[in-house]
Parts: sequence; C-alpha cells; structure tokens
Amino acid sequence: MLQDFRGHRLFFAEMNRLLGLLVVAVSLCLQCQVNAGSRLSMGVIEEAVAAAIANVDSLYEYSRRESLDRVRRNAANPSEILRLLKQPVGLSRSAVRAADYMENAVTLIKRSLPRRQKRSINATDLISEEDLKVIATLTGCAQQQRVPSCAPTPNLDRYRTASGVCNNRNNPRWGSSNTPLARWLPSEYEDGISTPKGWTSDQRVNGHFLPLVREVSNNILAANGDLINDPLYTHMVTIFGQWTDHDLSFTPHSPSIRSFNEGVDCQKTCARTEPCFPIEIPKNDSRPGPRTDECFPFFRSAPACGSGNTGYLFGDRNRRQQMNTLTAYIDASQVYGSDDTKARFLRDLSTDKGLLRVNTQFTDNGNELLPFSTASVNPCATRARITNVSNAQEVPCFVAGDDRTNENIGLAAIHTLMMREHNRLARALAKLNPHWDGERLYQEARKIMGGFFQVLTFRDYLLHIVGPDFIARQLSTYPGYNENIDPSISNVFATAAYRFAHLMIQPIMFRLNEQYQEHPNYPSPVLHRNFFAPWRVVFEGGLDPIVRGLVGRQAKLNTQDRMMNEELRDRLFKFSARLALDLAALNMQRSRDHGLPGYNKWRQFCGLSQPQNERELAQVLNNTILARKLLDLYGTPSNIDVWLGGVAEPFVNGGRVGPLFACLIATQFQKVREGDRLWWENDGVFTEDQKASLRETSLARIICDNTDINEVPIKPFQYRPRGSGYTRCEDIPEFDLSPWRDGGNTPRGPQGPPGPPGPRGPPGPPGNSVNVAFSVRLGNNNPNAGTPIVFSDVIYNGQNSYDTKTGFFTCQEPGVYEFEFHGTIYENAASVDMLRNGKLILHSFTTRQSGFFTTSGSIYIRLERGDKVWLVANHGGNGLTRDSLFSGHLLFTE
Ligand SMILES: *[C@@H]1O[C@H](CO)[C@@H](O)[C@H](O)[C@H]1NC(C)=O
Ligand SMILES: *[C@@H]1O[C@H](CO)[C@@H](O)[C@H](O)[C@H]1NC(C)=O
Ligand SMILES: *[C@@H]1O[C@H](CO)[C@@H](O)[C@H](O)[C@H]1NC(C)=O
Ligand SMILES: *[C@@H]1O[C@H](CO)[C@@H](O)[C@H](O)[C@H]1NC(C)=O
Repeated sequence: MLQDFRGHRLFFAEMNRLLGLLVVAVSLCLQCQVNAGSRLSMGVIEEAVAAAIANVDSLYEYSRRESLDRVRRNAANPSEILRLLKQPVGLSRSAVRAADYMENAVTLIKRSLPRRQKRSINATDLISEEDLKVIATLTGCAQQQRVPSCAPTPNLDRYRTASGVCNNRNNPRWGSSNTPLARWLPSEYEDGISTPKGWTSDQRVNGHFLPLVREVSNNILAANGDLINDPLYTHMVTIFGQWTDHDLSFTPHSPSIRSFNEGVDCQKTCARTEPCFPIEIPKNDSRPGPRTDECFPFFRSAPACGSGNTGYLFGDRNRRQQMNTLTAYIDASQVYGSDDTKARFLRDLSTDKGLLRVNTQFTDNGNELLPFSTASVNPCATRARITNVSNAQEVPCFVAGDDRTNENIGLAAIHTLMMREHNRLARALAKLNPHWDGERLYQEARKIMGGFFQVLTFRDYLLHIVGPDFIARQLSTYPGYNENIDPSISNVFATAAYRFAHLMIQPIMFRLNEQYQEHPNYPSPVLHRNFFAPWRVVFEGGLDPIVRGLVGRQAKLNTQDRMMNEELRDRLFKFSARLALDLAALNMQRSRDHGLPGYNKWRQFCGLSQPQNERELAQVLNNTILARKLLDLYGTPSNIDVWLGGVAEPFVNGGRVGPLFACLIATQFQKVREGDRLWWENDGVFTEDQKASLRETSLARIICDNTDINEVPIKPFQYRPRGSGYTRCEDIPEFDLSPWRDGGNTPRGPQGPPGPPGPRGPPGPPGNSVNVAFSVRLGNNNPNAGTPIVFSDVIYNGQNSYDTKTGFFTCQEPGVYEFEFHGTIYENAASVDMLRNGKLILHSFTTRQSGFFTTSGSIYIRLERGDKVWLVANHGGNGLTRDSLFSGHLLFTE
C-alpha cells in the first residue's frame, strides 16, 4: 500500500498507524449511523473533526520542524525555497489551516462510509448541508466566511482598510484579502470537484493525453540562440509587472509537505497524493548532469475554506477554489500588508510620525533599508553558498507588505524605494500639518501611495502591455464607481495571464554605475545568483546600481523561438548542485492544479476564434512550425495550457501580449478600477487639487527623491540609451503636496483649468546626429471628430517635419521618436488618439477635473522613412482648447 520512497520511513509508519486508528474509530461509529441524506450524530462529527485537527496539526508540525532543520543544515533545496516562498503566514495561515481541517474531516467521514455510498463523490450527497455547517463551525471555516459588519470601522469613506474589507458596502468581502480567487469560467477538474487534469495519467482530456509539462517546456519554451532585447521597453517594465502582481494576488500552498492521506513527503516521491502533484521529468530530459531525480516536487495550492469536497459555502458548489491572500485593489498593499496585523507590524509605532519601520542595523549610504525578518528560518542566508566564502556574513530576509520581497534584488529594490517614499511623504506631510498625529500621517501618505500606483499603472504601464486598442476599448476615461462590479482577482489572471512577464525577464540583474555603465565593483549577477540575496543590497553598493540597471537597460523581448531564459527554465532557485526548478513547467502544472480550462475555452470567453486544427492554429499563431510542435504535444488546440497558449500568440498592436492575454488583463484591470470605491478619480476620494497633483505622478521623480541617483531617463518604462539624453533630477517637477495642507487656504471658487505645460525647447546645437523636432499649439482651429487635428500655431518646426495644413508629421529619418500631447477639453466625454499610418498607437490618458477634462499621452515609437503620425479627437471633436499642445522629436537612431 505504501510506496517505497527514500527516508523518514519510521516517521510515517508511525503517522500512518495513528491515522489508521483514527479512521477505524471514526468509521466504526459511522457505519451504523449514516444513511445518505440523514444527519450524523454530533458525536461522530466531533470525533472526525478532532481526528482531522490532530492529523493536520501533526503534519504542519512535522513540516515546520523539517524546514527549520533543513535550513539549519544549510540544505534547503530549490523546491524548499519555493515552498517557503508560498507559505501562508498570519491570518492567511489560519484560513488555510481551517480549510485543511475541514477538507480532512470530510475526507475522513467519506472514507469510512460503506462502499455503496462511497462511490458517489459528491460530499453533499453523503453529508447533509446542516452537518457540513456544523463541521465548518468546528474547524474554523465558518469564521472565514463570516461577513463582517462595516458600521464600527471609522473613516471608511476616507481610508482603505488594510484587508480591503468594506470597500464595497453591500458585499464587504469583495476584493478583500483571504477570499477565493474569482472564476470567470467554471473550473475543470478531472473528477469535476478537485483533482487536477493529468492527475490520472491514463485519462484522456478531449480525446488526448495531456503532455508532461516539463516536456512542453523543453520542446516549446527553451530559448534557441541569443535572447533579443526589447527595442522600446526597459527591464523596469518587467519588474514593475512583478511588483504590481504582488499588489494584487498571492496564492498560498498548504503548509504541509506531506500527503494528508498517506503521510508521503512530497519532496521524496513521484506519487500524486494530495497536496503533492509532482512534475514528472521525461526520460530524455535535456538537463545536463547526473539524473537522480524523476520529478520536481510540486505542492498544490491550498483549497479555500469550504471548497472542493466541502464546497457548499460557495455558489460554485463542490468545486475546489484557490485563495488570494492579498487585496484585489491597487492599494500598495505590497508596501503596507493586506491585513491589520501585518500592517501594524510594519509600522514604526515607537514614534507618532506615521512612519514605516526601517532597518536598525544597516543603511544604504545613509538611506533607509527595509527591516529584517525575525523568523527562525532564514532562506536568505545564501551568501556563503553563492560566493563560496564559507565565513561570509549573512543577513536575514527583508520584510515588507508582501512576503515575496526577496525573490530577486530588483524587486527588493522597488520595495525599498517605496518604503522610503512613504516615509518621505509622511515627513513632508508632518511639516505641512504639524498638528496631524501619526495615524493621520500614516493614512494620508498611504492613500497618496495608492493613488500613485493607480496613476502609474493606468497612465504609464498598461499601454505598453495590452496596446492602444484594448486601452481605448476597456481602460479609457474613468466611467465612475460601480458597486455591482466585483473587483476580485480571477484565477486565470493570477495563474496564467499576469505571468506573461516571465518571458520578459533578462537572465541577469543589471547593476550600473553613475554613467549607466556596467558597475566596476558590483558586476551584474546572473539571475540564479540573486534570488533571496538581500545581502547584495546590504553589502554591495545598495539600491542605486540596481535601480539604474532597471531603468537603463532593456527588457528581454518574448519571441516565439526564444520564450524563456534558461536561468528561469533550468536554474530557478538554484544555489547549489541540487535539482533546480523550471518556472515554465511550474506555471503549466499550476494551471492544471487550479482546474483552469484550456486555451480554446478562454479564446471563446474573449470572443476570439477557437482554432480546431493545425492550419487554424498556425493562422492564430502566425507560425506553422510552432503550431505543429504544439499539436504534436497536445493533440488538440483545446488542451493547450492557457498560460502557454497565451504567451505563444503574436503581440497585439503596440502591446507585449497576444489578443487572449490582452483581453484577460484589460478585463481584470477594468474590474479593479470600476469596482474600487476608493479609486483615486472617484468623487470625494481626493479633492480636485489633490487629483491635479496625482495626475502628474512621476516614477522618475520617486527614484530621484529616494536614492542618490541624480540623472534618470524621464520615462523609466521606455528605453533610450543614455547618450540620447537623460534628465537631471532637479529638472523633474516635484510632487506637489500643497493640496494636502489643512485649512491654510480660504475657500475659493472653482478653479479654472491649469495651463498646459510649457513647450519643449528646440533641440540643442547641431552635432553629428540629426535633429528632427516640432512643437505646435492648436490655435484657432475647431477639430472635427475622426479627422486629423491640425495644429496651426508653430512654436518650433525647424525641419518642417510637421505640416500645418494637413496635421501630419512625416518621418524623414528612421529611428525611435518621442511624441507627446496635452490638452484641455470642455465636453461630456473625451479622448484623443494618436495614429501612425492610420493605425492606433496611443489612446489618451484622460481624467476629469471639475467640469473639464485633461487629456495627455506620450509614447516612444520606432518609425520608418515616410511614416506619418497625427492626432485625432473623438466624441464630436472634443472641444479642445486653443493652447492644446503637440510635440515630437527624434530620440535616437540605431
Ligand atoms: C452534488 O449534489 C448537489 C445537491 O445534491 C447537486 O446540486 C450537484 O449537482 C451535485 N454535484 C455533482 C458533481 O454531482
Ligand atoms: C524526448 O522524447 C520525446 C518522445 O520520445 C520526443 O518527442 C522529444 O523530442 C525528445 N526530447 C529530446 C530533448 O530529445
Ligand atoms: C569553493 O571553495 C573551496 C575551497 O575554498 C574550493 O575547494 C572549491 O572548489 C570552491 N568551489 C567553487 C564552485 O568555486
Ligand atoms: C507573421 O509572420 C511573418 C513572417 O514570420 C511576419 O513577417 C509577419 O509580420 C507576421 N504577422 C503578424 C501579424 O505578426
């Protein structure tokens, strides 16, 4: 019965005997008492729950001891590191534990039922809803489902709760932490309830066997040849994707490393037994070195309370759901934490200044560093192993609002930067309002930070990912708060679509000196040598070289023959010779673990075609060879794992994902915006003056204000070589905090529209490089909708590249250009588009401001000779004011 596996036999033999006894005891009581549909006696339920609690507690305890022990012996392997990374902590851990108790209690009861009844897999056929409710109460699951009362919480209209609870007044748990991920399509499990597809290897799906995920990774994702740099975007775009993801979702594992049923250790077996779902390695795997392992360990994500076998509590009864331990809102929860306990833990409560806690042992050249973790397990003690200096000084992990802070040093750098920005804001607010107490300072600074990320994500980031067509369709001018929209993060977004950026990760973390050249003292480490390495921030030059590397170097470009860098595919969390993990294989196994439907179901969800054969798939992918390779593996396009199908598609116009992921990502962000009562643009959240400040948020300035860097690319997501001109920090406008001053100003009438920014100066003196630039104002024209807007008032047009009769800019010098526009509009609805040769390249960022709109946009774009660029107003012409401004210039030639 027990499989043969290495190690710890004694321990599980013992566990098994204990479990066996409990099962026998429970089943003896049950056999005489259970009839389907009728109720169980209270005694039986209590006994089953007690047995489940004992079982789960002992497995948790074993796992904890084992982890501690491995880390102490310095033997933590990559899967252990991943497991530690995916551990729920604090309140999330209680939620997962309750779910594990309940799942186990129900399994014990089901197992002990007579065979006739056992054949049914539907828990509610066997155990009445009333009994399940009792079990839910005893295990703590009911507590997890309780809808809180919002009435006693102060300031609900002003500040967010840490957990996001009560953002929606009618559905207080919508978008809050520790709730299940949303399902946009019904889950698909092998047994219809909980078992992943591919669990039973001889079961077909749509008439075909599912391929091993590692084989798919080897055949499709491996990069053949040199990686290609993204011509337009910086590595900051990649890491900002991870940063935003860590604001939105985190799906925990169960803390147990042993099977609940057989006591098998997931790291030592290829057997599929809950929660172990190991990734089988094909016989002829390409990985070099001796082959001793047949599997990568893989732990299933924890079920949400009352789902799976116990799922009567949700609409989607009886199907396993996974949990999101973070708030769904863009609220900077990765800075502040997603529950009250964590939030308090991160605050500096030793003074009344509203600050976040900082490191008390080290600074970065006088600048603040994140505080250290006090956990007894230290997966960040990687320095000795990575540098091969046995007595190297180690440091603990950094702590911040999200628990994945140390995953790579780029991410840790952004966490540090944003902690510093909070403290900078809190100190500045205290100067403006000396009478504010620490709580007020903390909440106001936190609220501004939430606004920052909402602006940066919608104004600067998403355009580069989903492209202008999806921005225009789903993420255009803010339509207002809609209390009927559930902002919860969907399973497909967290598990598949928002993992697109894994294919934009460079195999190294760049570290640059003040000239934005390779740092002489701290060279750029390859990726696997900067996982869990906070010591690189502490001892190797701090934040500045890393931040310069993010904004001064390009992202990797995802192409169909060079998808994932080998650092992630073959050396994930590798610190030593032990078997490293494969991120691509993990992603696909995860989508099966979560019961996500396949590629075609999601294409259908998005209103896209559903390819049925190789020819149609080749058309969708614009690639015959790739289509054939995929069908060799999967047999049918319907079975392609959705993450893989998504990242294999050619990019949408102007974006960095294909149509499927553009749709899923745009749909999620639309819900996150429209379902957020405290969205920065919603009425009454900020004052009009505060909104005007927030609209000018600048990531470049945040970098300047919180590091010793004094020159940056002004648009840190958009790549330009340093030679094309970076901006000195003193030339970037400060964030204007004056609208946060209390009282000071006497009430005044409604403010008029702000003037547009001044025109760009003419290009500098002639050098070797070609100058192309223009800067024009609208002047007296009244634009019509849908036709080129003709800007007639010339400020500069030295090369006559802009035609004031037609409204066209025409490219004479191929290269990368920057275009910008700013306008004020008196209308009910408004937006402006930028087109190249008739195709949409930029949809304006348009916000409402006391009765008028401001509309703006900026883009870097590569042009060929003869390309034409122009602006178009929508909605009847938009009533643009005469001082509206349009400018463009050549940034660099390649
Ligand atoms: C389980 O039982 C409930 C009620 O008895 C029923 O509505 C549901 O369809 C069943 N589910 C399955 C998978 O049989
Ligand atoms: C491994 O074997 C499978 C089937 O036998 C084949 O499709 C695949 O291409 C092989 N992979 C390598 C890396 O040789
Ligand atoms: C690490 O250092 C030891 C002795 O200091 C040496 O024997 C060993 O080869 C080194 N290993 C690597 C990978 O450099
Ligand atoms: C399709 O592929 C061809 C050749 O590989 C390429 O030239 C073309 O631009 C691609 N089309 C699209 C829409 O990506």
